[in-house]
Amino acid sequence: MPAKLKLVHPPQFDEDARWAAVSRRDASADGAFWSCVRSTGVYCRPSCAGRPKRENVFFVETRAEAETAGFRPCKRCRPDRFVAGSLSERIDHVDWGKVKTLLDGQGWAPLGRLLSDDDCAALIDGYDDDERYRSTVMMRRHGFGEGEYRYFADPAPPLVSMLRTGLYEKLAPIANEWLAALKENRPAFPATHEAYRRCCAMAGQNRPTPLILKYGPGDYNRLHQDLYGGEIFPIQAAVLLSEPERDFSGGEFVMTEQTPRRQSRAIVAPMEKGFAIAFAVNDRPMTGARGAYRVKMRHGVSEIRDGKRYCLGVIFHDAA
Ligand SMILES: [Fe+2]
Ligand SMILES: [Zn+2]
Repeated sequence: MPAKLKLVHPPQFDEDARWAAVSRRDASADGAFWSCVRSTGVYCRPSCAGRPKRENVFFVETRAEAETAGFRPCKRCRPDRFVAGSLSERIDHVDWGKVKTLLDGQGWAPLGRLLSDDDCAALIDGYDDDERYRSTVMMRRHGFGEGEYRYFADPAPPLVSMLRTGLYEKLAPIANEWLAALKENRPAFPATHEAYRRCCAMAGQNRPTPLILKYGPGDYNRLHQDLYGGEIFPIQAAVLLSEPERDFSGGEFVMTEQTPRRQSRAIVAPMEKGFAIAFAVNDRPMTGARGAYRVKMRHGVSEIRDGKRYCLGVIFHDAA
């Protein structure tokens, strides 16, 4: 017989403290718990400016509990946008099992919100700081589209470096399975990004590739693949730094998938400010009746109608 679970804290004690935090709109309690409001069907941060009645509110520890119980994120306090912890903790909290299933099945996966509003603002504010970058590319000059992007110099700002090393470690096992499925003739990707950068350097690719892209009205990015030589890590990430429909309109993140002997299929990935997605750089394996075959993916950005759109691109291989 399994032992009966005992509650360590009497729940009423926490409930009163939580309601007190909600009553004073205590932002320091954000992330510790969430209030579900029965009368509206939404869940909120403790700091929400809404004024629900006590009898309509109950508390949960995680957003997943609120969503499972059928509550929607409040449009006012946006509990879905809350990010807590260090960047490495946020990366650890991504559901990597689900990400693997989606990457294997469709070639791209949302990673959720990895950057806070402050993180996004800091990266956008740094866009004009020339010291941060090793080069700037005007897309028109190369026929890539309209708009510009800047490659970070080495070392990249800590946030960008942490994102690159942290995501690499999670994606390397998936990339290694892709290698095996596609029967690629190359050694496995090492476990750490530091070791992988040494592989890139040995292939003559030693310039860092993380970049910020900036688009204004009329700008766009043609469908492409971020390849910089023979050394290719097959998955990359992008984090949107601007808020769709507020900072800009248009500017959808678009991918195409080309299956042998078929026309290309278009995919539009929904993004939000601070949200990250992972996607295939070029070839990914797709399982068919006679084993895995190659599907080619490309990505780009549709025309920006209004405003400014900034995006952080995290490519794991370096450039020659
Ligand atoms: Fe790209
Ligand atoms: Zn709210």
